[in-house]
Amino acid sequence: MRDAGPRSLAMKTTEPGNQQSMNAGTTTRPAFDPSALKRQFPGLAEPDLHYLDNAATAQMPEVVLSALRRFEIEARANVHEGAHRRARAATAALGEARSRIARFLHAYSTEEVVFTYGTTSSINMLADSLGASLNPGDEILLSVLEHHSNLVPWQRLAARRGLVLRFLPITNDGRIDMDRLQSELTSRCRLVALTHCSNVTGAVTDVARVVAAARHVGARVLLDGAQRALHGPLDMRRLDVDFYAFSGHKTYGPTGIGVLWGRRELLEALPPFLTGGQMIEEVTLESATFRPPPRRFEAGTPPIAAAIGLGVALKWMGSLDWRAIRKHEIHLTRRLLDGLASTAGVRVVGPSDTRNRLGVVSFSVDAFSATEVCRHLDSHGVALRGGHHCAQPLIRALGLEGVARASLAPYSLDSDVDALLQGLDELVRAGGASSKRRSRMLVEKRYPACG
Ligand SMILES: Cc1ncc(COP(=O)(O)O)c(C=O)c1O
Repeated sequence: MRDAGPRSLAMKTTEPGNQQSMNAGTTTRPAFDPSALKRQFPGLAEPDLHYLDNAATAQMPEVVLSALRRFEIEARANVHEGAHRRARAATAALGEARSRIARFLHAYSTEEVVFTYGTTSSINMLADSLGASLNPGDEILLSVLEHHSNLVPWQRLAARRGLVLRFLPITNDGRIDMDRLQSELTSRCRLVALTHCSNVTGAVTDVARVVAAARHVGARVLLDGAQRALHGPLDMRRLDVDFYAFSGHKTYGPTGIGVLWGRRELLEALPPFLTGGQMIEEVTLESATFRPPPRRFEAGTPPIAAAIGLGVALKWMGSLDWRAIRKHEIHLTRRLLDGLASTAGVRVVGPSDTRNRLGVVSFSVDAFSATEVCRHLDSHGVALRGGHHCAQPLIRALGLEGVARASLAPYSLDSDVDALLQGLDELVRAGGASSKRRSRMLVEKRYPACG
C-alpha cells in the first residue's frame, strides 16, 4: 500500500499537549462522556477501583477483548505460508492489523510498520540494526529524561562501537532543555533519540525544533512514543521524524506487541536484527538473503493475536473525539495539579501548568517514600505507581529516590482524581513529618516500578 490519500478513519491529529490548538474549532459530535467510555472497559467494572496507572499499562475495551477471542476461535493458525483456509484468514487478519496501524500513524505505507514486542524491543532492534553502520566517534544525542529503554540499548551500542553519547539536560520544570540543542548537537551526531512525552514529568517534547536541528547536521531522529501514543492518533508525516516506537499494552491493546515505524527507504537500508524463519528470501547451507521490510525485521512467528488486537485497539482509538478527550484530560490534570499543590509536603515534578504536557503527574511527599504513598493509596482503591519509573538518571537529577505517579486515560473521572487527593490528604494528616518516619523512609531501598 502506498497510501498517500485521505485517511479513511476520522482521526483527529491535533497534537495533544498543545492546548491552543485543542481549543480551536468546534465538534459536531455529542458531548464526550467519560463515564460512558469507561463502560466499554470490562476491566474497570470493579467497584471502588480508581485506576490511575495508565502510563504503565492501559486497560482494553470490550471490542479488543472480543476480537482476540474471535481470532483464537475462528482463525487461529500460523501466518504467511498457509495453504489452508485458516492460515489464509490469519494472514489476512495480520495484514489488516498492519494497515490499521499504518492509518493510526498516518504512515506513507504499510511496509513502514514493523511488528515488535513493545517499545523496548523496537529500540533494541533499531540500536542493533542502525548501529552496524555507525563508526567510532559518531555521536548519539539523548536526554536526561529518557526511560531506560531509550538509554541502555544506546549505552551498550556505544560501548561496542566506540560511539559518544551526549545528553540534553532538563529544565527546572522537568522538560528537555531545548536551549542546549545547539551546543549538544554536533556535526558528528548520527541520531537524536528522545522521548515524545516523559513517563515521569508528562512533558511533551518540542519535536519540530528537534527535527529542524537534527536535519541541519544530517542526523536521524527516533522518538520513543510509548507515552504519547495512548493520548491519540499520531501523524508521522507531520512529525517528520525517521523512526517511532510504541507499545500495544499502553494503547488499549494486548501486551507482547509493539511497533517500530521507520521511513521505508531507511528500513530498506538496515540489516536484520533477529534472523530465522519468515524473514528470508533464499537460504543455502552457507548464506541467506532477506526479504524487504517489514518482514526482514520479523523473524519467527509474530505475536499474531496481539497484533490483531492492537489493530482493533488503534481503530477504536481512531473513532474517538480526541479534541473533547484532550479537554477532559486538561481538566483532570488541572484538578490533580491544584489538589497536589494545596496538599502540605507534596512536590510535583514536572510542569505545573497544562501546556505541552500530558496527564502524567509525578510527585514526592515529605517524609514518605513513593512506595509508602502508593501502598496507602492502594488501600483506598487508587492504583498508582511509585519508584524510579525506569528513569533513574532523571530521578537522581531531581534529587529524589523515587516518586509516586498518577497517569490519566480518556476513561479517567473526577472521582478518580478526588479519591487520590482524599487518600493523600489522609496520609499527610495522619503521618505528619516526624523525624522517626523520615529515618525509616531513608533506609527503604525498594523501588519496584517501571513503566
Ligand atoms: C517513555 C517510555 N519508553 C519506553 C517504555 C518501555 O515500554 P515497554 O515496557 O512496553 O517496552 C516505557 C514504559 O513505560 C515508557 O514509558
